[in-house]
Amino acid sequence: MKFFIDTANVEEIKTALSWGLIDGVTTNPTLISKTKRPFLDVVKDIFSLGEEKDFPISLEVIGMKNGKLDSETMVKEALFFVDFLKKNDLNVNNLVVKIPMSLEGLKAVKILSEKGIKTNVTLVFSPNQALLAMKAGATFISPFVGRLDDIGHDGMRLVEEIVNIIENYGFESEVIVSSVRHPKHVLEAALIGAHIATIPFGVLEKLSKHPLTDIGLERFLKDWENVPDKDELFK
Ligand code: E4P
Repeated sequence: MKFFIDTANVEEIKTALSWGLIDGVTTNPTLISKTKRPFLDVVKDIFSLGEEKDFPISLEVIGMKNGKLDSETMVKEALFFVDFLKKNDLNVNNLVVKIPMSLEGLKAVKILSEKGIKTNVTLVFSPNQALLAMKAGATFISPFVGRLDDIGHDGMRLVEEIVNIIENYGFESEVIVSSVRHPKHVLEAALIGAHIATIPFGVLEKLSKHPLTDIGLERFLKDWENVPDKDELFK
């Protein structure tokens, strides 16, 4: 199972990378706006971190023309990302263009996948939306489990259904369990066999914690005080 980090905060990405726990990054317009930094500065910083290895980084297109989603505009924005990364000597192979689920979005996914550009279809809330994304050739599909749970639906059931469809037909798309709110979402995603979970920094930290671990550590440290040669060791 791969872990992506769901943030545009460069310090959080650096820290999670230092733990050796993450395989990629997902951003969205909300996460970018939270940084209060210019978008392209954030892009440069994130791409500089994962430059050497295969490290998918999702950047979302806006894709609006005359108040409507428009596939040509999405493709234009995606190609702008490609150009920008190339001009700045950043690893364009790590680019994943994140596209909002819609018929226009699916058209853009098809065009971009034919050009060999990776895509991530976002804002997926039903198995049929995911099926369309698979057929369009999406590299990644992002079902939003937390937002479904928030309105009383079962987000993980959706993930299960999408994984089943992929397995039934051998589609190559990978599922990114998104809108993760707590460690239980990560566990459930792993039990289902989802390919990837994109996890906020706070949830990533929580995964390592357990109160019995803290109590156990405290007891070991206290008992260690009674070991006679403790001060002579590790010198
Ligand atoms: C990731 O790709 C999504 O944009 C993100 O997980 C959405 O999470 P939220 O529902 O907490 O905003």
